[in-house]
Amino acid sequence: MDNNKKDLPIAVFDSGVGGISVLKEAVKIMPNEDFYFFGDSKNAPYGTKTTDEVRKLTLGHVNDFLNMGIKGLCIACNTATSAAVRVLRGMYPDLPIVGIEPAVKPAATFMVHPSVLVMATPMTIHGGKLRHLIDKFGADADIHLLSCPGLMEFVESGRTEDPLFIPFLESLLYEYSINNPNRTKIDAVVTGCTHYPFAAKEILSVLGPDVRLFDGGEGTARELKRRLAVADLLRDTSHKGTVTFEMSAGGDAKLKLCRRLLKS
Ligand code: DGL
Repeated sequence: MDNNKKDLPIAVFDSGVGGISVLKEAVKIMPNEDFYFFGDSKNAPYGTKTTDEVRKLTLGHVNDFLNMGIKGLCIACNTATSAAVRVLRGMYPDLPIVGIEPAVKPAATFMVHPSVLVMATPMTIHGGKLRHLIDKFGADADIHLLSCPGLMEFVESGRTEDPLFIPFLESLLYEYSINNPNRTKIDAVVTGCTHYPFAAKEILSVLGPDVRLFDGGEGTARELKRRLAVADLLRDTSHKGTVTFEMSAGGDAKLKLCRRLLKS
């Protein structure tokens, strides 16, 4: 493999800051790589748009990344993965492309017949990709789907400590809340949007301490590393990796939030 190609960055893409929950895991296991993170905060949220709109936005950004020069791509957005990953793989068969999908499999199999709550954006909840995952792995679990419009916005604007956030979650999750005497009991929750891990503590404070949280970030980062290794695209250990952030809106305040979330 020619070294020039190995020296290129790996692009990590999301509609906003959420994909940093995947980037964090990728940096941990690939400390010698240069990462280019792009968040489309100008067009966020993606989860309340149509599939066609999200696909068009995603294809446009990926085209820009390729013009810039990248050696691999991580779609660190469940919504964009659901809308565009298949098309992208068809368009760029030589580029290692990894998408994220809700961690339904580990959540459905961690105990005998668990009750699992899948939280995701409206588009992911209604998309065929999640339906397919549930058909495949959901037979051994009771799966509850919850569309969460409004949740990513708290993370995107860095407001998870806002006094309005817990009341918002209480109302969104009331059916499963520890404060609801008639609640539907769940054993596990799947964070099916990359923004939600940044609100994990708050989500679990509403669902109760016995609920186990499953997120796809770590598995996605591992798969990204595996794909790059198979293509012989990983750098050697003499290079100290870097992370560059670019956001399509939000200026310095947004970049500051990105750096804070990466360190969190
Ligand atoms: N972070 C994105 C996801 O994983 C979506 C957030 C949004 O833009 O609605 O689905």
